[in-house]
Amino acid sequence: MDISHPGSLSQTDALALRYGPDAIPDAGPWNDHIALLLSHRSIRGYRTDPLPPGTLETLIAAAQSAATSSNLQTWSVVAVTDPAKKAAIAKLANNQKHIEQCPLFLAWLADISRNQRLGAEEGVTLEVMPYLETFLVAAIDAALAAQNAVTAAESLGLSTVYIGAMRNNPVQVAEVLGLPAGTMGVFGLCIGYALPGVANEVKPRLPQSVVLHREHYGAADERSARAAYDAQMAAFSQRNELTQDTWTRRVLGRMGKVAALSGRDRLAAALHALGFELK
Ligand SMILES: Cc1cc2nc3c(=O)[nH]c(=O)nc-3n(C[C@H](O)[C@H](O)[C@H](O)COP(=O)(O)O)c2cc1C
Repeated sequence: MDISHPGSLSQTDALALRYGPDAIPDAGPWNDHIALLLSHRSIRGYRTDPLPPGTLETLIAAAQSAATSSNLQTWSVVAVTDPAKKAAIAKLANNQKHIEQCPLFLAWLADISRNQRLGAEEGVTLEVMPYLETFLVAAIDAALAAQNAVTAAESLGLSTVYIGAMRNNPVQVAEVLGLPAGTMGVFGLCIGYALPGVANEVKPRLPQSVVLHREHYGAADERSARAAYDAQMAAFSQRNELTQDTWTRRVLGRMGKVAALSGRDRLAAALHALGFELK
């Protein structure tokens, strides 16, 4: 199986890479679009080559084609190509080198400010603005839009990696990007051409049996499925020269201590400062 071009794999090979050979689900219908989705990999090393003219606009058209709650369109995106600005964001986001390397960095915003301005211009108080629901809708909208952009980018042979670390210092990120009140950078996205040799294999996921529940939630075979997935992730890490680890240790390390949140434990306060009341 040629894992360097996962988009060209057969259905069985693509599913085997995503789940491991022992957990291939009985998937039915299949096409090239689904093959592309299954071939996704985050890439953490970029050539500096610029993107072809109009790429940004194409990606944003894909992003804006995502569903958006009640067509409220409560998201925006800031495209960053200025090296100094990318460096400033990288510094606020755990010094991740790919933020500086990539030719295009997109900061995805939950944005209720535009509709707030609309209300002010129309002389109407928008009573729902201070509610947690409104922030959640904006964050969901931003995520759906961004994922459309990711899929579009990958279909063009580009690579991406999301940057959740942009939430480590949201108030400072807002200053760097000149964000108005009522906007928050919910995550970033590096886009560009992968450096040779940086692409890992497709990262296996949990077996469908633990994430797909039929008619009611059930966690009966979770323990044995986790053990099997741990073995698979350990082998994946070794093959890809990553710090060898199981999924269990990954979850415990990432969710066991507040320190692992890298400042995001203060997110509620940051959101208040950025104009989200979260009632
Ligand atoms: C919202 C979000 C934030 C993420 N933040 C980061 C990040 O800050 N740095 C990073 O290297 N990867 C980040 N990732 C990438 C994940 O680590 C990656 O998707 C996961 O390990 C699965 O690997 P894959 O995307 O190659 O399948 C993020 C992913 C998501 C969805």
